[in-house]
Amino acid sequence: MPGAVSNAIRAARAADLDAVAALEAACFTCDAQSRRSLRHLLTRAHADFLVCVLNEAIVADVVVLYRRASRVARLYSIAVSDAARGRGIAAALLAAAEARALVQGCTLMRAEARASNHASRALFARAGYRETTPLCDYYQGPGARREDGVRLEKILSPPSE
Ligand SMILES: CC(C)(COP(=O)(O)OP(=O)(O)OC[C@H]1O[C@@H](n2cnc3c(N)ncnc32)[C@H](O)[C@@H]1OP(=O)(O)O)[C@@H](O)C(=O)NCCC(=O)NCCS
Repeated sequence: MPGAVSNAIRAARAADLDAVAALEAACFTCDAQSRRSLRHLLTRAHADFLVCVLNEAIVADVVVLYRRASRVARLYSIAVSDAARGRGIAAALLAAAEARALVQGCTLMRAEARASNHASRALFARAGYRETTPLCDYYQGPGARREDGVRLEKILSPPSE
């Protein structure tokens, strides 16, 4: 992970709500999370919510959800602002999210992506995720259409010394 990017990653705070809501709205057409849901994730959820801050602006975020007594973490959301893409920021955030999940005692990370989201599937493939299950009509598409998805997973292991 490029050092400059990994140094720019920190835990999100309640005061980041406006910035992460704007990022969501800009990055997702159908799947944007509501402010209410984001506030819950920032303050009360059993989750890790990380942001990447460049030039004092939040340019990317990632959310990992945990369940009590489960060693499976769920990569719930990852997004990078349009202007910051293609610089390894998502890859760095994903690595940071996996490190947090390991600290939480998890041994497996699961994620989902739209079948049509090639950038996302390439990101996960590059990071060592395996596509395990097709998800038929899983996502809301434009209008009344449904879109297929794919479930991905990666076994988490601590970095070797
Ligand atoms: C998917 C997304 C998070 C990638 O962010 P990013 O910071 O540009 O990704 P990175 O620069 O870290 O790229 C990491 C790897 O992902 C892949 N990748 C990223 N964007 C890609 C694209 N547009 N086309 C093909 N591969 C892509 C590449 O394999 C890349 O590795 P490489 O640079 O060594 O080739 C970003 O495009 C985004 O926010 N999209 C909108 C929200 C979204 O779809 N989130 C995922 C929901 S599951």
